Amino acid sequence: MSLTAVYPGTFDPITRGHQDLIRRACRLCNRVIVAVAANPKKAPLFDLDERVALAQEALKDLQAVEVVGFDSLLADFCHQQQATVILRGLRAVSDFEFEFQLAGMNRRLAPDVETLFLTPAEEYTFISSSLVKEVAALGGDVTDFVDAHVKAALCNRLR
Ligand code: COA
Repeated sequence: MSLTAVYPGTFDPITRGHQDLIRRACRLCNRVIVAVAANPKKAPLFDLDERVALAQEALKDLQAVEVVGFDSLLADFCHQQQATVILRGLRAVSDFEFEFQLAGMNRRLAPDVETLFLTPAEEYTFISSSLVKEVAALGGDVTDFVDAHVKAALCNRLR
């Protein structure tokens, strides 16, 4: 069976936690579309094109992965891509409530699309893009959390 999954997020920027989840998804799905949301309400540090480019570079060795920016409803984007799965990560119990709401709304908007949850490797459960940005902004070392090109982009932007 051919399975296309959409992994949506702001990816501001992509972290090794995201990458770990995407690698796991590649074992289950034929095609994984990393859908980078414009999400202006989050006032991202990197603009949409920059976030897409950072993610593309981080995932370039994965044949099954495509990185696409979007600014529409996720349910519509899934239909447009003929995806039947929305992939989401659960890092901790605290993620659950929001994810449950999101999955419920997406199911109402797109009943033919199922949300699939994966958990990242333990060493990535505490990572978020905001925390990585905060550590980098205060001069901390983010080597363990993001790829070298993302670290360089962060240092450049936050200098
Ligand atoms: N590893 C590391 N970090 C992770 C992670 C993982 N596996 N999974 C989530 N995170 C982090 C993210 O980096 C992000 O950090 P931040 O808040 O510090 O930036 C945080 O967890 C939340 O991420 P996520 O749950 O993916 O939220 P998001 O804001 O990045 O994405 C969308 C939310 C894009 C999925 C949602 O807003 C959306 O679907 N938008 C499209 C419009 C739409 O359809 N809206 C209606 C939805 S029903």
